[in-house]
Amino acid sequence: MTTFRLTQISDTHLSRRSPKLIRNFERIAEHIDATRPDLVLNSGDIGYDGPTQPDDLEFARSLHDAMPVACRYLPGNHDIGDNPTQIGPVPAQLISEKGRQGYILVFGDDRWRFEAAGWCFVGLNSLVMNSGLVSEAEQFDWLAGELASCNGKPVALFLHKPIFLNAPDDPEIESSSFRYVPMPARRRLVEMLRSVDLRLVGSGHVHQRRDFTYQHTRHVWSPSAGFIISDARQERIGIKEVGLVEYRFQPDSFEVRHVRAAGQVDVDLEEIWAKEQKAPAPVKAPATI
Ligand SMILES: [Fe+2]
Ligand SMILES: [Fe+2]
Repeated sequence: MTTFRLTQISDTHLSRRSPKLIRNFERIAEHIDATRPDLVLNSGDIGYDGPTQPDDLEFARSLHDAMPVACRYLPGNHDIGDNPTQIGPVPAQLISEKGRQGYILVFGDDRWRFEAAGWCFVGLNSLVMNSGLVSEAEQFDWLAGELASCNGKPVALFLHKPIFLNAPDDPEIESSSFRYVPMPARRRLVEMLRSVDLRLVGSGHVHQRRDFTYQHTRHVWSPSAGFIISDARQERIGIKEVGLVEYRFQPDSFEVRHVRAAGQVDVDLEEIWAKEQKAPAPVKAPATI
């Protein structure tokens, strides 16, 4: 295979309780049915509330299984719980091995590597980073072995959280520490990635579309497939719209297309809280999404 077409969707936040998010997923599924990529990747926050509502994960899996293409998955904080950070408050849903195992039961491995069109593709669980769980150390050990066997091939890395805002040594600040791979795990990850020809990092989590290049590596933030977050709750960094990302890989090159499926609607998080889920009390702190 000299061309490999990958479609990244992210932050679908699916549950039986959110018909607006299901409708946006159906529009994405129609687009995927029409375009038939070689692989669909959901880069996390697949379900709405995996740690306390396991049915959200099972329901989300059933919707992916109904699509006529192969799918891979990576966990998000709303699937397995969130990282502790050095500077921010302890997350309301802290990552746990129990949460991780609940995800693995439904979606399979939380990290993977495969090759296609002359590229190495690596998927990581970004939520175990800085957790101190055994699986954090296991993943770093595993990653070292996988990177060592890429043998000079270009590498595309996918994970739920962006590694950083603009640069690896951006200071970690309390108001946004939940948004990126936390220190000091970030430093270790960046160091390990220096050993390979890293061309692409694809992430989700922020619910904003963004595409920038830092040194040799293009960083693509997939928007949410389901909803946006208002400026009142979250600073604007990129483009706030729902959609997906299409990649076309060929040996030694790749293309990126930012796409919005026909019929997708920019649902605001407030609408979901107000009409479809139990609304939390208004908060001044940014939503941890
Ligand atoms: Fe999300
Ligand atoms: Fe997230």
